Amino acid sequence: MVQKKGGGPKGGPRQPDMTRGGRGQRGAGLSGRGLTERVKTAHKRTASSTRWLERQLNDPYVAEAKKRGFRSRAAFKLLQLDERFHFLKPGARVVDLGAAPGGWSQVAAERVLKSGKGKMVGIDILEMEPLPGVSLLHLDFMADEAPEKLKALLEGEADVVLSDMAAPATGHQRTDHLKIVALAETAYAFAAEVLAPGGTFIAKVLQGGATGDLLKALKRDFAELRHVKPPASRKDSAEIYVVALGFRGQHRAS
Ligand SMILES: C[S@@+](CC[C@H](N)C(=O)[O-])C[C@H]1O[C@@H](n2cnc3c(N)ncnc32)[C@H](O)[C@@H]1O
Repeated sequence: MVQKKGGGPKGGPRQPDMTRGGRGQRGAGLSGRGLTERVKTAHKRTASSTRWLERQLNDPYVAEAKKRGFRSRAAFKLLQLDERFHFLKPGARVVDLGAAPGGWSQVAAERVLKSGKGKMVGIDILEMEPLPGVSLLHLDFMADEAPEKLKALLEGEADVVLSDMAAPATGHQRTDHLKIVALAETAYAFAAEVLAPGGTFIAKVLQGGATGDLLKALKRDFAELRHVKPPASRKDSAEIYVVALGFRGQHRAS
């Protein structure tokens, strides 16, 4: 079913380009492609699943994630964000909202837990294989009891709250937009309660960035606010990340 066509030098996959990616992004950027894989439409495979499979087979981040033992290609987005903004410091306390299958948690745990200190807490509505040193909640973050359960696991303040949460796309643009805005807003309501002064909040939003009340609150509560599309984020995806640095801690709800 899989046909190999063309390719890099001598038909082998290209090596990761360690120089691409702009300021501070060395090591997590990849360039070029290896072999181009074409997938024939199989009897029971729909055109869209054929396209998905073809994209996976030709995605250098998918190949590199497999090579480095990351559970998702999304791991590179966090690596690239951290290489630019340096928030995953050894000993930091991190919350990962929408953690499954665990790529971001792997990256964060490797960086913050290596000093023997630090804390990693994650939550996902989907079940996730355990990760050493990471406390995981298998729960809907939008459930009433989720914030308290997360706080109980965290046992104190957080230096970083990450949200890569995304509900499955419905294909209806407005509905998908409303869902992701609601997740990002709820993520920030939680972050505002647990972040330590100086803390970092990162959340997936859609093109156009944070809007309305969320944008207002982030501008008010942080020293610096950026909208970033890391190189590993697919160009055809509308996702973008809001990166809020230097939590002022003056508007904590409780
Ligand atoms: C893009 S994936 C996260 C990938 C992850 N950052 C990684 O590197 O492996 C988005 C995740 O958000 C989770 N999610 C969406 N809505 C959620 C909710 N209400 N509560 C908890 N998790 C949620 C999904 O189940 C999914 O696993």
